[in-house]
Amino acid sequence: SIAYFNGDYLPLDQVRISPLDRGFLFGDSVYEVIPSYAGEFFMLPAHLERLDRSLAAIRILSPFDAGQWTALLEDLLARNADPATPDLGVYLQVTRGVAPRDHAFPPDARPTVLAMVSPIRPLPEAVRTEGVAAVTAEDRRWGHCDIKATTLLANVLNRQAAVEQGAVEAILLRDGQLTEGAASNVLVVLDGRLVTPPLAPSVLPGVTRSRVLDLARELGYPVEECAVSESELARAEEIWLTSSTREILPVTRLNDRVVGAGHPGPVWQALHAAYQAAKP
Ligand code: PDD
Repeated sequence: SIAYFNGDYLPLDQVRISPLDRGFLFGDSVYEVIPSYAGEFFMLPAHLERLDRSLAAIRILSPFDAGQWTALLEDLLARNADPATPDLGVYLQVTRGVAPRDHAFPPDARPTVLAMVSPIRPLPEAVRTEGVAAVTAEDRRWGHCDIKATTLLANVLNRQAAVEQGAVEAILLRDGQLTEGAASNVLVVLDGRLVTPPLAPSVLPGVTRSRVLDLARELGYPVEECAVSESELARAEEIWLTSSTREILPVTRLNDRVVGAGHPGPVWQALHAAYQAAKP
C-alpha cells in the first residue's frame, strides 16, 4: 500500500522512521483511525476535530488545518483505490518529531506525520449471528485516556490478556465502574435504556460512540450517559463495543457468562442496521 510520510507518498515498506523519533522513543505522539467506505470518508470532520484536541492537549502545533488534512487524506485514499478492498481505515499519527533523546520537549523539532491504510472487512456472518466474547479487566491506564495518544502499553497488555482468554476485547473497570474497552467504547442496554459512561478523562470520546448515541436518539430509544457499575454490566441485556474499525460489535459472552439471551439483541439489530444505512 501507499503511505504518506512527511510530505511524500511512497510504498509503506519504504517509510523509514528515525530511532530518535519521539513517537518511537517515548510514545510522544497522537493518532487517529478514520474509516472510509467505497472511497469516501465517514465522520472525517469529527476525527479531525479530535486530532486537533489531542495535539493541543500534548502541545504539538498542528502542521495542517482541516482543509489541508482533508486534501492529504483524500489523496492517500485515491492512491490506494483498489476494488478488491473498497473499505479502508486510515491510520494517521503525528509525533513531536526527531531530536536527541531528552524527556523535555526539544526546542525546534518538526512534527513527524505518517498516514497509512489497511482494509476494513465487513463483520463476519458468525459475529452477526452469534456475537463475540469479552472479558473484564482492571483499568490501570493513566489519567488522560481522553487524549488519543499512541502510548498504549496498558491497552496492549489488556487486549492480549483478553485474546489469551479466547475473547476479542477487554472491558475495563476502574473502582468498580465501567470506563471503556482496550480499543473501543462500551455501550449497554440496561432496563430497556441504552447506557454508556459519560465523557471523562477515563474515556476516549469515540466518534462511533457519539454517532451511535445520535442514531439511537433518532430512532427513539431512551439514551443515558451515566456511570455503569460492574454489577450493572454483569446484568445488562446487551453489551456493545464501538470503534471506527469494528463498528458496533455485539458481546454475547462476558467472562464466560452469557449476556442477555446469548445472541445479538434486538436493540443491536436496530442500531447495526441504522449504522450500515448511515455509512457512505
Ligand atoms: N481505537 N476507546 C479506545 C481506547 C480506542 O482505542 C478507540 C478506537 C475507541 C473508539 O473510538 P472511535 O469510535 O473514535 O474509533 C475508544 C482505534 C480504532 C484503534 O486504536 O485502532
